Amino acid sequence: MARPAARGTTRLLLRDLVQVVTPSAGTVPRRGPELAAIDVVDNAFILCDGDRIAAVGRMRDLPALDGDLEELDGRGLCAVPGLVDCHTHPAWGGDRVDEFSLRAAGASYEELHAAGGGILSTVRATRALGVDGLRDRVERHAAWFLTHGTTTWEGKSGYGLDRETELESLRAVRAAGGLPTWLGAHSVPPEFTDADAYLDFALAEVLPEAAELSDAADVFLERGAFDALQARRYLLACRDAGLALRLHGDQFTESGAVPLAVELRARSVDHLEATGDDGVRMLAEHDVVGVLLPASALFLDRPMPPARALADAGAPLALATDFNPGSSFTAGLPLICSLACTQLHLGPEEALTAVTVNAAHVLGLADDRGRIAPGLRADLTLLGVPDWRYLAYHLAGDVIAGVVRGGSLVLRR
Ligand code: NIG
Ligand code: FE
Repeated sequence: MARPAARGTTRLLLRDLVQVVTPSAGTVPRRGPELAAIDVVDNAFILCDGDRIAAVGRMRDLPALDGDLEELDGRGLCAVPGLVDCHTHPAWGGDRVDEFSLRAAGASYEELHAAGGGILSTVRATRALGVDGLRDRVERHAAWFLTHGTTTWEGKSGYGLDRETELESLRAVRAAGGLPTWLGAHSVPPEFTDADAYLDFALAEVLPEAAELSDAADVFLERGAFDALQARRYLLACRDAGLALRLHGDQFTESGAVPLAVELRARSVDHLEATGDDGVRMLAEHDVVGVLLPASALFLDRPMPPARALADAGAPLALATDFNPGSSFTAGLPLICSLACTQLHLGPEEALTAVTVNAAHVLGLADDRGRIAPGLRADLTLLGVPDWRYLAYHLAGDVIAGVVRGGSLVLRR
């Protein structure tokens, strides 16, 4: 049943949609067979009232609606929940196109990093941007996310690694509509000779204000970055400051990220390309979400994470772009859904859950968005396709036809 519009709010009716598709109601994070539980309504409508979904149903059940109503002709369109990108690095300057050429000629990502290139070359370029330059870059990247159907995105700092550039990165993410995560432990910047001395500085000088500006904290736990003891120290301090915890873990080497994430009740552990059987079992037994980043594995020509084993064992999973200039220069979740099906052997239904409700859970927002149901935020991604599974099926396809965010049509193509 449609409820009447509250005074002063606008109503938007999307009518004659080919399909409305959403993860089914259930507990979060979704895991096991529930990862694939979706509802498909053919020939459907969605009514938005202000920034909320008011009603969803079949066209033949559409009630008479009087009063002011904006209508969108949904013929030829499928609607899925607004896509949620729960892992991006949007705050950076310069590019890594020279490094890309070197890698194409055989240099490895880890070698370039160890030689002072990689993340540290982006740190130099990001520090040189200045406040306005950084804001412009994050705005530009946010516009790319929207073009690819993303309505909610997390954005990490981590290319400043000094006080001002880290804090300005977090402010720029918030100003561009993202949810900031302080990745204060991404790499050891050149002015420090060791990781512990850098962490002393970051926790004393940056954390107090970063905690005001961020929702979560993240660390790169990896050979050549921070080890498990250092990651633990950083994360405990961030948790004490009120931040939710995330980890980059098991990207190249299995270095204790999964047990640490479980011990600290982190929201997620992300990457997992190197995770073995024990890590798979541990994630299946706990609520830490495994965030899989197949574009990063593809871009670096690395092994894919053990996604099918994780899903079959019952681990909760999300998928994200890992958008960044070095290891995953891609801004679109539809491509990630394609990689999930072709490289990770997940089904389109599992992929949809992983870029909507489970990704929203990683950001602490699953009560508010990530499904299409009355009362939830009216964020919808419209696909110009005959069957919603084209979201994954059409590899690098131009599938995004429109985006509704907070009940307003913000993109139409
Ligand atoms: O998630 N692994 C660490 N951080 C990023 C890559 C950063 C970069 O190469 O600039 C990632 O892949
Ligand atoms: Fe990342």
